Amino acid sequence: MAIITKHLLISYCLFISVESQSNRPPTVNSLNNYFTVFENASTGSLIYQFNATDPDNDVLTFSFGSSDTDSLVNVTQLSSSGNIYTCGLFLKTQLDRDNSPSVRQLHVKIKDLLFEITYKIFMIINDVNDNPPTFTGLPYRFSLLEDTALLTPVFTVSATDPDTGSGGQIFYSMNASSSSVFHVPIVVSVESGPIYFVEMQDDADYNETFSLTSNTGIIHLKRKLDYETKSFYHFKVYSRVCINF
Ligand SMILES: *[C@@H]1O[C@H](CO)[C@@H](O)[C@H](O)[C@H]1NC(C)=O
Ligand SMILES: *[C@@H]1O[C@H](CO)[C@@H](O)[C@H](O)[C@H]1NC(C)=O
Ligand SMILES: *[C@@H]1O[C@H](CO)[C@@H](O)[C@H](O)[C@H]1NC(C)=O
Ligand SMILES: *[C@@H]1O[C@H](CO)[C@@H](O)[C@H](O)[C@H]1NC(C)=O
Ligand SMILES: *[C@@H]1O[C@H](CO)[C@@H](O)[C@H](O)[C@H]1NC(C)=O
Repeated sequence: MAIITKHLLISYCLFISVESQSNRPPTVNSLNNYFTVFENASTGSLIYQFNATDPDNDVLTFSFGSSDTDSLVNVTQLSSSGNIYTCGLFLKTQLDRDNSPSVRQLHVKIKDLLFEITYKIFMIINDVNDNPPTFTGLPYRFSLLEDTALLTPVFTVSATDPDTGSGGQIFYSMNASSSSVFHVPIVVSVESGPIYFVEMQDDADYNETFSLTSNTGIIHLKRKLDYETKSFYHFKVYSRVCINF
């Protein structure tokens, strides 16, 4: 009796080992295991797709496997053709790059009859310019003496932006043109005598008279001022945000 039991046990072990060799785990086909999404993407939108297949033609089931990102996305089987399953990730809630990490790891669990694999996908959240920059210390108005030395820093403009990362990086530029979303008039007057308003005639004149350092907002005097030629400068300064990742 004891001998039979032992014999059965050995057979059973062999059976299991043969079975696990013949069934292989599912595999994933996708272009990349990462994708980028803008933080303002609409909820319910399809943000990523991948294919999965099973070498043994087993039926596959998909579920989400990362608890910290469970509230952000779901995994949905979109179609299947033969043994190729096409799945999508859908956005469940509005993303907010400014208050949460910019890269999130998503785990999708894919199950066949015997195995469960975890497919890791990186979601890179792109910041968008959802917060406009605002100038501080408005209005800007300053006067300069005619004999102000060249290269003197004559004024500093300053803006703040609550967007994080490159989305919150501010570049200052000056332009005589009036069409810009974020702009503020800077008035530069050359002091002495009655001040009269001179509309900007040509960009080159402003460009040659002042320079603005784009990352600091400091305006320098580039060319000697001449009250007789021009007593008043009035131009626009605006900030621009970069939305590249
Ligand atoms: C996914 O499967 C579909 C349908 O079979 C196919 O058209 C597509 O090229 C596949 N994509 C990848 C990344 O394998
Ligand atoms: C998201 O922001 C980008 C850049 O500002 C814009 O082009 C796009 O239309 C916005 N998308 C949605 C869904 O609001
Ligand atoms: C995932 O979200 C999409 C879009 O809202 C929805 O159509 C789909 O049924 C959802 N899938 C699951 C498994 O909840
Ligand atoms: C300044 O304005 C001119 C004319 O409107 C325009 O062509 C140019 O691109 C502007 N410069 C910047 C830096 O936006
Ligand atoms: C203004 O000056 C910059 C460099 O100092 C030059 O690149 C740009 O072409 C000039 N623009 C005009 C309108 O003169």
